[in-house]
Amino acid sequence: MKKTVKDINWAGKTAVTRCDFNVPLDGDRITDDTRIRAALPTIKYLMENGAATVLMSHLGRPKGKPVPEMSLAPVAKRLSELLGKDVIFVPSDAVVDDKVRAAAKVLKAGEVMLIENVRYREEEEKNDPGFAKDLAGLGDVFVQDAFGTAHRAHASTTGIADYIPAVSGFLIEKELRFLGEAVNDPKRPFAAIMGGAKVKDKIPVITNLLDKVDILLIGGGMAYTFFKAQGYSIGTSLLDEEGLELAGDILRKAEEKGVKFMLPVDVVAADEFANDSPCGVYPVDSIPDNRMGLDIGPETIKLYCDTLATTKTVIWNGPMGVFEMDNFAKGTKAIAECLAEIDATTVIGGGDSAAAVAKFGLGDRMTHISTGGGASLEFLEGRELPGIAIIEDK
Ligand code: 3PG
Repeated sequence: MKKTVKDINWAGKTAVTRCDFNVPLDGDRITDDTRIRAALPTIKYLMENGAATVLMSHLGRPKGKPVPEMSLAPVAKRLSELLGKDVIFVPSDAVVDDKVRAAAKVLKAGEVMLIENVRYREEEEKNDPGFAKDLAGLGDVFVQDAFGTAHRAHASTTGIADYIPAVSGFLIEKELRFLGEAVNDPKRPFAAIMGGAKVKDKIPVITNLLDKVDILLIGGGMAYTFFKAQGYSIGTSLLDEEGLELAGDILRKAEEKGVKFMLPVDVVAADEFANDSPCGVYPVDSIPDNRMGLDIGPETIKLYCDTLATTKTVIWNGPMGVFEMDNFAKGTKAIAECLAEIDATTVIGGGDSAAAVAKFGLGDRMTHISTGGGASLEFLEGRELPGIAIIEDK
């Protein structure tokens, strides 16, 4: 068990708290504030329990230089609105300088301040000890609550823990509970739905899950590489050449391990990668030479939904089709609706599948939606995330 904010007596202490405020922006408008909302329970707890709170995060990939479009100023504004309390934003191109140090020093219990995008400094991603020490110098205890960045060994996610004690926030605690229980102690039958474009990117996750799941359902662009490995003709559909051999290995391994490995039985294929392209539904053994598969078909939807209705735990990572285009969103939407209905623990592994669930307005019908994209994938691969490893054990 990892120590949490509840294991600290915060009276007179300052919490240097790493959040993942890497939110999508349109100019200075935040288009999805899910990650900011996800950080609120920890921040509120600190405010109510006598801590002064210095918040830090990255936003985007400014590559070690100040980039005004990637400033955290809009986050400070949104956070103030959500907390109903002024969040003191102390911008500095240096991230930490004398002005920032002075502001942290006079911060009172219950007050919250945010420093500038830690990736304005190249030392951040290099996990530079000097920069980590500068960040640690802003307070007494490191609160790690940036699950979405916990797979990065950076100064603000791991290095800082060399200088002050590290505990987890509630978001990390929640992510570890839901993702961890789903993978390591699932109610059975346990199914994983894997989608997305490239087999190669998902190989480590699929390999790890093959040891744990009863059923594996495949959808999205990667299905075509599996079809090819089975000898089908896939028209102009996406083929992950590098993943082809690996797809064959996975099919063999699934059989060895007795995992029910399910591939689409029909697909929606179109002339072009465009929403208004002419398209049709085809069984997987008759995809036309000039068409590309962009969604799973109605028979597959029925088969997958009937299967999922028999399960007790489901992990979903990766869309079933090009859900950003309405004409090819049916498969992803149907799976999301099915997960919303069934009597099972449903865990959405972040990234595109989380975006899809949000797009269809089904977010609150899932047991847990991870705030991590890459981080949840690495977690599902069975890897220890560096930003979690540094949190002290109880
Ligand atoms: C994410 O959005 O997945 C995290 O914030 C990590 O961002 P990164 O991939 O730029 O490290």
